[in-house]
Amino acid sequence: MMKNVAVIGFGQTKFGELWDKSLRDLASEAGMLALKDSGLEPEKIEALYIGSMAAGRFVGQEHISALAADHLGLNPIPATRTEAACASGATAFRQAVLAVASGKHDIVMASGVEKMTDLKTSEVTTALMGAADQEWEAGIGLTFPGLYALMARAHMAKYGTTLEQISSVSVINHKHGAKNKKAQYPYEITLEQAMNSQLVADPLRLMDCSPITDGAASVIVASEEIAKKLDPVWVLSVQQASDTIALHDRKSLTELAAAKIAAKKAYEEAGITANKMDVTEVHDCFSINEILSVEALAYCPEGRGGKFVQDGKVAVGGERPVNTTGGLKAGGHPVGATGIRQIGDIYLQLKGKSCNQVKGASAGLALNVGGSGATANLAILGRELRRK
Ligand code: COA
Repeated sequence: MMKNVAVIGFGQTKFGELWDKSLRDLASEAGMLALKDSGLEPEKIEALYIGSMAAGRFVGQEHISALAADHLGLNPIPATRTEAACASGATAFRQAVLAVASGKHDIVMASGVEKMTDLKTSEVTTALMGAADQEWEAGIGLTFPGLYALMARAHMAKYGTTLEQISSVSVINHKHGAKNKKAQYPYEITLEQAMNSQLVADPLRLMDCSPITDGAASVIVASEEIAKKLDPVWVLSVQQASDTIALHDRKSLTELAAAKIAAKKAYEEAGITANKMDVTEVHDCFSINEILSVEALAYCPEGRGGKFVQDGKVAVGGERPVNTTGGLKAGGHPVGATGIRQIGDIYLQLKGKSCNQVKGASAGLALNVGGSGATANLAILGRELRRK
């Protein structure tokens, strides 16, 4: 029997081009902010999991777990790095939750960090392609914008998804992000600006791409005995699923099959249905992925994600608010940190403390995707403890 687990603290650095902060500064700052939020002293932390996708390539530093534990003053606790491409952060969260659920630890920190802006865009693009199939995708010149462009074209061909619908994803995310002081690009854009921005990988334009970002985020999870004395947000389910690493091996280019499986299992474990999600974070690394995600989460029928977004259902004030602080597009995407930032934003919403609050939010979901969908990590959080 697994024990109940709650999130009891969250901290996030500003996301952006942070010349004056090193990788260790970022990891330490986020961790200290999470500790402050939880009201706990560092010596209460029993283990650290930290996600980082490619610190070795971005800044030449490996052994991120030791670096972060050391600079946070957490030694000699066990510190472990997780890597699952852009889902590295949520993978750290899942390990932290499992460590508490198993009874091994009572209070665990889960962090994510990345410092990407020290390299040129071409070098970042090459490093990021480490998350795809090196031999069969990177080797023929594909890039991440290229991979997602293929999915966008397939979705357009199969379901009639339009360029306007794809661009409306980033218009809404920028509208949300404009309220977020920690966002990399906290400004609104018009549909016209999005649709006329620089073409990156046809049909995806600059305004369809998440940026290159420095940043870190941390959460603290705790057992029920500890959490119930605080103001907890309960973890109702954590799920992880895998798919083929290469896009050409997938059964379909128009669905996130791993995310679908993770969502189905999470709804079952949490004893909750998709229509009960008051707030959602999805992985809009490229705007098409938000469309694929709302379909995978069963927020709308397959093939209708474009219309769902364009109709404003995902906007704050709409039927199913998504990425209420700007998502990856406006908020920024320090790849290893994103999954933890997403959990943190759901936590803030459920505590009524978001910069773009959805009134009365009591349950939320975060979906973090690695690569072009080969890893899907999903968590459902709730104000009420009603886990099966
Ligand atoms: N959205 C909005 N504006 C952006 C942006 C983005 N995604 N990326 C860069 N900009 C802006 C910069 O702020 C800068 O503005 P300024 O001229 O007013 O200062 C301008 O565009 C040029 O910036 P630069 O850094 O030279 O852009 P770039 O052309 O080198 O990089 C991309 C643009 C889209 C190629 C890059 O952001 C990218 O590769 N994104 C995808 C990252 C990725 O794949 N992540 C993993 C996902 S799985």
